[in-house]
Amino acid sequence: MRAVVCVELGPPEKLVVEEREAPGAAPGSVVVEVRACGLNFVDVLMIQGLYQIRPEPPFVPGTEIAGVIESLGEGVEGFSVGDAVMGMSGFSAWSERVAVAAGSLYRLPEKLGFERAAGFIQSYCTGLFALRNRAELSAGETVLVLGAAGGVGLAAIDLAKSMGARVIAAASTEAKRKACLEQGADAVIDYANEDLKTRAKELSGGGVDVVYDPVGGDYAEPALRSLVPGGRHLVIGFAAGEIPRVPLNLVLLKQCQVVGVNWGGWSSRHPDGNRELLSTLLQLFEAGKINPLAPRSWPFSEAAPALRGLMDRRIVGKAVLVPG
Ligand SMILES: NC(=O)c1ccc[n+]([C@@H]2O[C@H](COP(=O)([O-])OP(=O)(O)OC[C@H]3O[C@@H](n4cnc5c(N)ncnc54)[C@H](OP(=O)(O)O)[C@@H]3O)[C@@H](O)[C@H]2O)c1
Repeated sequence: MRAVVCVELGPPEKLVVEEREAPGAAPGSVVVEVRACGLNFVDVLMIQGLYQIRPEPPFVPGTEIAGVIESLGEGVEGFSVGDAVMGMSGFSAWSERVAVAAGSLYRLPEKLGFERAAGFIQSYCTGLFALRNRAELSAGETVLVLGAAGGVGLAAIDLAKSMGARVIAAASTEAKRKACLEQGADAVIDYANEDLKTRAKELSGGGVDVVYDPVGGDYAEPALRSLVPGGRHLVIGFAAGEIPRVPLNLVLLKQCQVVGVNWGGWSSRHPDGNRELLSTLLQLFEAGKINPLAPRSWPFSEAAPALRGLMDRRIVGKAVLVPG
């Protein structure tokens, strides 16, 4: 079978597509024939050795898959060969076949489809964990989403709208802002050219209740300054590269909260909580309350340009890889 392999840490151009031995189904696990796998900013960090978890090369990157069960290991119940499933794969997703613990798989809702499912779990679990569990977002509140046309940004728009919030989306290009509006944002800000704090205050009528920040860099402080007194600034990630330093007097004066969000760490410590999170998300999808936009897909042979597009901020919306 073919797989995308990180043979040495470094830029995406060092990735290779290799023939590898197909995995077998150990007891309690299944082998999934992969139809699509998620491509996340986390993978960009991982292949460069810049993420908090650092697998030793050679390794197959990627953590999310959607596909069809090809074989079942001993003791697996509740699944059959041929079932369409989605799940987190550990590191190994970017392969034609992946062995996954049956307990970490979910039935794929038919109308979600393989490509949308492959980009769903990380973005939407992070969004629900952040907005519901960490910020306790209420209907009628206003959320400012940064990097809003990226994977976690679009999911945050979709989820915040489903929770009855008003959403202001900040993104750097016209095409990205169009995607945010298509996902349901009420208003958009061109934060590459407009003053983020001023525009967010204008559009929210005085200040936003929650900031959803997967970008960091120079945008974090003006975003925090746009909060109402008592607001919450969700620290999701640092796609801009720079980890911002925010003057703590702002936190004191506004009596706001700076709230850390580490879905990956939380989900490994709370597997039951994570199952509830994902089950809730799938129910929201089945009920038509959330609707992820279709991702753009690249074949395995174009993993490097796809990752380079994420690094260079050129990709609008979610990205996935498909075998080929
Ligand atoms: N805390 C958690 O539990 C958790 C979970 C998942 C992901 N994350 C983090 O969330 C962040 C976003 O992930 P993602 O998968 O949504 O990434 P993505 O799809 O690449 O989106 C990131 C967005 O950040 C913006 N950005 C601003 N400066 C950038 C730069 N220098 N390089 C790249 N992007 C830049 C871009 O939008 P504009 O061009 O519009 O600015 C881009 O669309 C990552 O840092 C990731 O590690 C955190």
